Amino acid sequence: MFITLEGMDGSGKSTQARLLAEFLRAQFGAAKIVLTREPGGAAISEQIRGVIHSLRNDNMAPLTEFLLYNAARAQIVAEVIRPALAQDKIVLCDRYADSTLAYQGYGRQLDLAMVRDVTRYATGGLKPDLTFYFELDIEAGLARRNQGHARGEELNRMDVQTREFYARVYNGYKLLRQAEPARWIVIDGSRAVESVQADLRAQLSPRLRVNLSS
Ligand code: TYD
Repeated sequence: MFITLEGMDGSGKSTQARLLAEFLRAQFGAAKIVLTREPGGAAISEQIRGVIHSLRNDNMAPLTEFLLYNAARAQIVAEVIRPALAQDKIVLCDRYADSTLAYQGYGRQLDLAMVRDVTRYATGGLKPDLTFYFELDIEAGLARRNQGHARGEELNRMDVQTREFYARVYNGYKLLRQAEPARWIVIDGSRAVESVQADLRAQLSPRLRVNLSS
C-alpha cells in the first residue's frame, strides 16, 4: 500500500510520518514498513535534493527546478517505492507528485498540463492509494518554520519564497483535493503533535489493506 503525506512547509508532516512509521513497525514488523521522503530517499535523489535546495542556486529556472524534482522522483520510484510495493510493503512517502503539482504547477505557474504529463511520466503512472493532507494556514506554517530555523533546522531555497508563492501553493493543494476527494484525507495540523498523530492513526486503521497475520 502506498501512502503519501502532503502539506505546506511547517505543517508537521515529517514529524507525523516518523511517528506513524514507528507505530506501523510495532504493529506489522519493521520489515513491512518503508518510510521515505521527497526530494531524496535514494542516494542519487539525495544528491539532486542538494542541488535543488542549495541557497547558492538562487538563479535556478522554474523549469530546471521542476525537472530536477521529477528526476529525483524517477529514481526513488524505480529504486525504492516500486520494489517495496512489489513485496507488499507499506510505503510512507513524505511528499510525492502532488507536491510538484502544488509547488511547480500552481506555485511557479508552469503549464499544468505539461506538469501533469511529465510528472506522470517520471512516476510511470504510480499513484498513491491514500494521501494525508496536513492542513495548516499559511501564516501558522511560516511561523512554525521560522521557529524551526531559530532552533537550527536547515533553511533551503524553497523556504525563502514570497507569501504570494505560498498562497498559490496553498490554493493549488485545495484544487488537487477537490479533484480527487476519495484519495485525500485532511488532518487538522494545527493541534499538538500527539493529537494529530492520534487522528492520523484513527483515520488510517480502517483503511489498511494488509493482512494482520502476515
Ligand atoms: P523539506 O526540507 O523536505 O521540507 P518539508 O519538511 O516542508 O517537506 O523541503 C522540501 C521542499 O521542496 C518543500 O519546500 C517543498 C518543495 N517541493 C517542491 O517544490 N516540489 C516537489 O515536487 C517536492 C517533492 C518538494
